[in-house]
Amino acid sequence: MKTVPASPSGGALPLEQNLAQFLANAGIGSRRQVSDFLRAGMVTVNGMVERQGSRVIQARTDAVKCNSKRIMPVPLVYILLHKPLGVVSTLDDPENRPTVLGLLRGVRERVYPVGRLDYNTTGVMLLTNDGDLALRLTHPRFGFQKTYHAHVEGVPSESAIHKLRLGVRIPNAGGVFEKSQPAEAHFLGKSKQRGIIALTVREGRKHQVRKMCQAIGHPVRSLQRVKFGFLTAKGLAPGAWRYMTPDEITRLQAFARKAGKEQPRP
Ligand code: URA
Repeated sequence: MKTVPASPSGGALPLEQNLAQFLANAGIGSRRQVSDFLRAGMVTVNGMVERQGSRVIQARTDAVKCNSKRIMPVPLVYILLHKPLGVVSTLDDPENRPTVLGLLRGVRERVYPVGRLDYNTTGVMLLTNDGDLALRLTHPRFGFQKTYHAHVEGVPSESAIHKLRLGVRIPNAGGVFEKSQPAEAHFLGKSKQRGIIALTVREGRKHQVRKMCQAIGHPVRSLQRVKFGFLTAKGLAPGAWRYMTPDEITRLQAFARKAGKEQPRP
């Protein structure tokens, strides 16, 4: 997605944007409500009714109205958080536990976590309202790399670590076992009888790393995401966050552009 240079708040106004994303970012409703508005013919672009949420609009110059009210573009923001223990990375939690959004004091835009980290996982996490970029960073077909340090029960042998490299069979949400994609795995050492494994994966199934380590007989006792692509939480205490720099945003967008040449299946 093309943007103009970042504003001091860390945001950039989008140039081109998918209409549904534009409307959701402007806060007129959830993605589902936006679809309802579109279907009901309540949205116009330059005076013409538009029902296709996938239509790409010129966000700064096209006149978009919903229910006859002009909708203005909202800056795209990119936030890097050091997720601490004890917060969920989903927006709503049935158990009412604190969420990562509660840590972002002062952020006016409605941002979303890019991918998920478990309640008990710490480390680097990106939040943004740039849905296009978020899709490319999370869809397994695009292969964006995430690196974890897993402290596991026992000390894994080199052959156990090698199994992680080749792929291990782990259960999916329906309980069916599927092989994980090849990963990079290294034994980093041990601390208090726990082995430490560095694992770089390109997919993001739920509890992926925990399940992979379980599959080689070494359950995870603590887990940290140390890298999200080239991004780290360096300089951020657990719970702290910052806006990404324009240079970091440009690098991520370069990845997304390259990845975008191959569209994901719906
Ligand atoms: N894999 C996991 O098992 N948990 C996380 O939080 C992230 C990756």
